[in-house]
Amino acid sequence: MSPTVRDATPDDAPALAELYDRVWALETSALGEKLAAERRAAPEEIRRWIETDRYLVVEETGRVAAVMGIEARHGTYHLAHLAVLPEYRRRGLARSLMERAEALARESGAVKIWFDTAPGLEAARRLYASLGYAPCGYLRRHYWGTDLIVYEKLL
Ligand SMILES: CC(C)(COP(=O)(O)OP(=O)(O)OC[C@H]1O[C@@H](n2cnc3c(N)ncnc32)[C@H](O)[C@@H]1OP(=O)(O)O)[C@@H](O)C(=O)NCCC(=O)NCCS
Repeated sequence: MSPTVRDATPDDAPALAELYDRVWALETSALGEKLAAERRAAPEEIRRWIETDRYLVVEETGRVAAVMGIEARHGTYHLAHLAVLPEYRRRGLARSLMERAEALARESGAVKIWFDTAPGLEAARRLYASLGYAPCGYLRRHYWGTDLIVYEKLL
């Protein structure tokens, strides 16, 4: 059965803060200390993200196990903050979130989906390639000196 994706609500903020704490603490070598630290956020800040943009989550065994943000801007969907708890990986949760985002983008008439990732986030790069996203740019020494690959899919 494919995972059930739902919209995040402000009540999810504490669980999401914990999820991001755990996930980004494991990625300091790929992101650099400063960027990894910045990707973690207190529940209050996450509540603001949810109020400003659309966040999708997947719950598994009663826990929020996966999350991703969608910033809809000027006919594009910018995906951000994708993270899955380590113990729920390789079950198709991230794929479900990205497929839902793509369906929403198409329904809304958006012309493109785009996002960036760090070269060291190997699992993420494999995920994006499996979903037909192509690298379209490379930003050297970008956020706090970390290189970033830019991906896009034209709709
Ligand atoms: C990247 C991440 C979101 C993937 O989440 P996930 O739920 O485990 O991914 P899925 O189960 O949906 O994987 C879908 C496909 O992506 C590819 N993939 C995902 N993780 C992979 C891995 N570790 N190794 C190889 N391929 C992988 C595979 O093709 C997989 O399909 P398959 O399992 O049928 O082979 C997760 O590993 C994570 O949270 N990583 C740390 C945070 C991060 O990098 N976020 C992205 C920021 S840009």
